[in-house]
Amino acid sequence: MTKKQVLIVMGSRSDLPAMEGCMQQLDAFDIGYEVRVLSAHRTPEAVLQLSAQARDRGIQVIIAAAGGAAHLAGVIASSTPLPVIGIPIQTSALGGMDSLLSTVQMPSGVPVATVAIGKAGPKNAALLAVQMIGLTDASIQQKMIDFKKEQAEKVLADSIVE
Ligand code: RP5
Repeated sequence: MTKKQVLIVMGSRSDLPAMEGCMQQLDAFDIGYEVRVLSAHRTPEAVLQLSAQARDRGIQVIIAAAGGAAHLAGVIASSTPLPVIGIPIQTSALGGMDSLLSTVQMPSGVPVATVAIGKAGPKNAALLAVQMIGLTDASIQQKMIDFKKEQAEKVLADSIVE
């Protein structure tokens, strides 16, 4: 069984469709992950317990996705030494600007590496996690080198429009 190196937490099951791209990207790199739905507002104690125990369970990176008054990534970052990547989920009320600002504007000393609103965010969160794991795992880093090369080759192969 693949060891679970990434913990993905999302604030609601309603975030799941937006997060598919994150899981797919981790699958593409054969990175094991655990997915949990817990809310910073609705289940704060459970969030803190999960993040406080993550390191001892072998997790290396935590990805936290939430929408609206999105405090999930910040609360998680408060209680773990692990790097935390925040995904601001697009919202119907404010388009995700609410999620973005509440995830990215962390106070000094408690960083959350925040990715974009929209489709690129969950995918890039997974790629950032892969890059972090690659710092101490040469085979994973090699996969990232190959990924970037293939991506560049595709763009170049498509570069002539007429
Ligand atoms: C946040 O509130 C969740 O991350 C979700 O994006 C948003 C709405 O949640 P639901 O009301 O759909 O459960 O906590």
